[in-house]
Amino acid sequence: MNDKSERVSPFLKVENITKNFGNIEALKGVSLESHLGEVLAIVGDNGAGKSTLIKIISGVFTQDHGEIWINGEKQENLNPKVCLSKGISTVYQDLALVNTRDAAYNIFLGREPMKGLFIDKKRMYTESKQLIQGLEVHIPSVKVPVGNLSGGQRQGVAVARAIHQGGKLLIFDEPTAAMGLVESSRVLKLIKRLAEDGYGIIIISHNLQQVFQIAHKVCVMRQGRIVDIVKTDELNMNDIVSMITGAADI
Ligand SMILES: Nc1ncnc2c1ncn2[C@@H]1O[C@H](COP(=O)(O)OP(=O)(O)OP(=O)(O)O)[C@@H](O)[C@H]1O
Ligand SMILES: [Mg+2]
Repeated sequence: MNDKSERVSPFLKVENITKNFGNIEALKGVSLESHLGEVLAIVGDNGAGKSTLIKIISGVFTQDHGEIWINGEKQENLNPKVCLSKGISTVYQDLALVNTRDAAYNIFLGREPMKGLFIDKKRMYTESKQLIQGLEVHIPSVKVPVGNLSGGQRQGVAVARAIHQGGKLLIFDEPTAAMGLVESSRVLKLIKRLAEDGYGIIIISHNLQQVFQIAHKVCVMRQGRIVDIVKTDELNMNDIVSMITGAADI
């Protein structure tokens, strides 16, 4: 990774975010930045606060304290729709696709193009096909119900939808968790490629090997705090494991 992203302003900046669930302090003052063209991995043990953090970034939860800036603008009253309109799109673990419908339908869901009184299906199929091919996602056809596709293919459709919705910063919560080796490597390749194309990526993963394959930076969380944010080319996996477990503090 070059240092260019350090000099340009971040697409997303969160500052001193806290979030409590009853008496559980899920986030205790978290700050980070995400740049377009960069893969930022968030790692940490179960319950470290990773999903809570990205849910706040994508407007699903509201923080108790702290600030969120998107494209240099301070945000108030975020919700998923507003986040999406500002270019933050989350590709959820359960994918939230309609399994009985085809890829084109899923990509255009809620934004179907109209021709007169009718949905312009031809345009939906043509544009979906172009989008899917452009991402080098291999599916038999955009007319096959997505329930019949593999996990990696479905992930590809979900990414296509995120981009079609105007996503610039794409967030993934354990995208390869339920996948075999081949599917995982396809998804990782897609994510890497998206960053090269100028999208920002935040990815939560428990798989440090995968993190080292694709991430420029790693944000290590422990018990609701960020231990450190480091560049993957400046340390190794053991260093990260120590930071995750807290062994480095002993
Ligand atoms: N909706 C909720 N209600 C109550 N507590 C919650 C809620 N969501 C998260 N928590 C708690 O907040 C803490 C952080 O959870 P979070 O899901 O963010 O962790 P995580 O780092 O994503 O873990 P994992 O790796 O297991 O997915 C945990 O103690 C969890 O039990
Ligand atoms: Mg989680």
